[in-house]
Amino acid sequence: MNLLSRVAPAALLLGLSTTAALAEFVGPTAVPEAAAFDAQGEPVFVNRSDIYDFRALPSYSEPEFVTAFVEAGKLPPVAERLPAEPLVFNTATMANGAGVYGDVMRHVIGGRPEGWNFWAGQSYGWGGIDIGLVECLTRTGPLFQVNAEDLQPMPNLAKSWDWSEDGKSLTVHLVEGAKWSDGVPFNTEDIAFYWDNIVMDPNVTQLMGASQATYGEGTTLEVLDDYTFVFHFTTAFPEAVLYAMAYGNFCPGPAHALKPHHPAFGGESYEGFLNSVPADYLNFPTMGAWVVTEHRPDDIVVTRRNPYYWKVDSDGQQLPYLNEVHFRLSTWGDRDVQAIAGTGDFSNLEQPENFVESLRRAADPAAPARLAFGPRTIGYSLVPNMSANGWGEPDERGQKVRELNRNLDFRLGMSQALDRVRLGESLVKGPFTAEYPGGLLAGTSFYDAGSTVYYPTSTDSAKAHFEAAGLTDSDGNGFYNFPGGDDVQVALLVNGDYQTEKNLAEGIVAMMADAGIKVVLNTQSGNDQNAARDSGRYDWFIDRLGAHMITVVQNTAALAPVGPLTYNGHHANNAGELDLLPFEQEIAATINAFVDSRDADQRVELMKTYQRLFTENAYQIGLTAFPGALIVNKRFANVPEGAPIFMYNWAEDNIMREQVYVPADQQAALELQPNTLPGEPGSAGPVTAE
Ligand code: GLA
Repeated sequence: MNLLSRVAPAALLLGLSTTAALAEFVGPTAVPEAAAFDAQGEPVFVNRSDIYDFRALPSYSEPEFVTAFVEAGKLPPVAERLPAEPLVFNTATMANGAGVYGDVMRHVIGGRPEGWNFWAGQSYGWGGIDIGLVECLTRTGPLFQVNAEDLQPMPNLAKSWDWSEDGKSLTVHLVEGAKWSDGVPFNTEDIAFYWDNIVMDPNVTQLMGASQATYGEGTTLEVLDDYTFVFHFTTAFPEAVLYAMAYGNFCPGPAHALKPHHPAFGGESYEGFLNSVPADYLNFPTMGAWVVTEHRPDDIVVTRRNPYYWKVDSDGQQLPYLNEVHFRLSTWGDRDVQAIAGTGDFSNLEQPENFVESLRRAADPAAPARLAFGPRTIGYSLVPNMSANGWGEPDERGQKVRELNRNLDFRLGMSQALDRVRLGESLVKGPFTAEYPGGLLAGTSFYDAGSTVYYPTSTDSAKAHFEAAGLTDSDGNGFYNFPGGDDVQVALLVNGDYQTEKNLAEGIVAMMADAGIKVVLNTQSGNDQNAARDSGRYDWFIDRLGAHMITVVQNTAALAPVGPLTYNGHHANNAGELDLLPFEQEIAATINAFVDSRDADQRVELMKTYQRLFTENAYQIGLTAFPGALIVNKRFANVPEGAPIFMYNWAEDNIMREQVYVPADQQAALELQPNTLPGEPGSAGPVTAE
């Protein structure tokens, strides 16, 4: 499409419409060029098995203080706690080589733990706490440094997998003999519980939304023995499932601890299941490197090393190297400030409001932290709720907004009302932000500028589109009215934990007002915003893009409403019905074809189609995209070069914290619970060897 213009429909000679009557539609243009922004630090590319594999080593070791527990008869010897073939990190590919034990990583996070039942939908507070406490069948964070020829998810709890000849089944082999942090074996009982009673149970809504459609409609799971299970598919070689086994999706919980609370096994109710491990519960079993041993609300979560952790380095040292990890419960903005000041150890610098000051302070050679910018992988979009059949149970006004959202002219009006340059500059001036047209992010491997339809800013054209959608300013107050009724009023759901999101929201309110649409803010805490979003209780929301818009292969199902729960702008109603518009059906069919295809060229073409459909229809309204920087205190070693703050996963996974260490001469006395290990699940805290 080239500069196409239609004359706006005749409008009333009142209020807004006097200008709009003269306005013409401004058609799409090429995507504007963004200022170059080079990432600092290139990854050292390797094959997956260069990073780690699974094998038995001649001997194993552990920190001295842990040996004291063994000697006191409180813990089996390390070799007995480990799997027969543990996951072995190769010290040769570590950024700085074999580590030493000790010290702490002090995270600061803006979220709050709701409780520890992640599987029933409780948030741990983000910022790397859940990423550390739940381990998944496969792992994708470190893929940013994997050679393109070897690009596939890394093994993790699944140590290997094989496809049947016809590609209709995938046999998955779990690591054998690994144990939960309380010493209970990890095996297919955990897998079956996760599949049957979490994924397949419609009464359980997972936090990150994995549902059956994530694994393909009709997929079933069959357990063969303690360490082997098989996925059966209705299509051949759905390789996306390997990515759907990584963080966000297949991260099983401890069946032995959760089962008794689940209604299928005698638990009283789903509500009871959800709340079965409240936030003050300590030592909940995990497969992760550290276990929660203390939680002071609004203050700190302390985690201590898991003596049963099933990973070692190639010298036989049981991981993790760090004895403790803290999560200071504060704000996301404070995370940047503390990491720069050296009172915290880590931040994903992702709020542009903090860029300039952080850069200035990190430039001082005496600064305590390293700061390195990555590619522009942080993007925001405006998502209209596309359901008109009851998802989120809108009232009459809400229902009318849903119907407008489903009107292409209305969405084009939304898009053209927004000045993306100003939105970006309201966050930070300089070369950081780029106009984001929506869909796949520029600079990522499947992005194609030629398939991206960009609607330039034009308040007049926005008004012309709103009028074409049937709106008039019938009372002449400068805001459009619903046909024959009140002013159109749209509630914008905002995650108030992020200053960036609040600033974008204010820009949207002002720009929409200029174009005659009244937007009111519904600003919530992160946990409440997530709940409102996931249950469809919103008109529009601001979305920080997920990994699917960057990699396409991670969480592919989130790209489109391919199932009742997969796309966060359009879920099914309570009856399971999804009222997709024709273009949404095309988008969903494109993603299904992408998942089914093993032909690289065809996959590229399908993503071009996706991008065109998505942007041409303004399915989501792109706002701005910018880079983020990883800030890590200089005393840490083994932080991989070029680790992006976000790609397949967040940096907390990308840097593989279990192999990060602090050299002996730089260790600080920061452990709050020295010489202790996690106690029994549900007990008061950590324990000593005495
Ligand atoms: C939050 C933060 C991100 C990252 C993730 C990890 O979303 O904003 O920077 O730490 O948590 O889950």
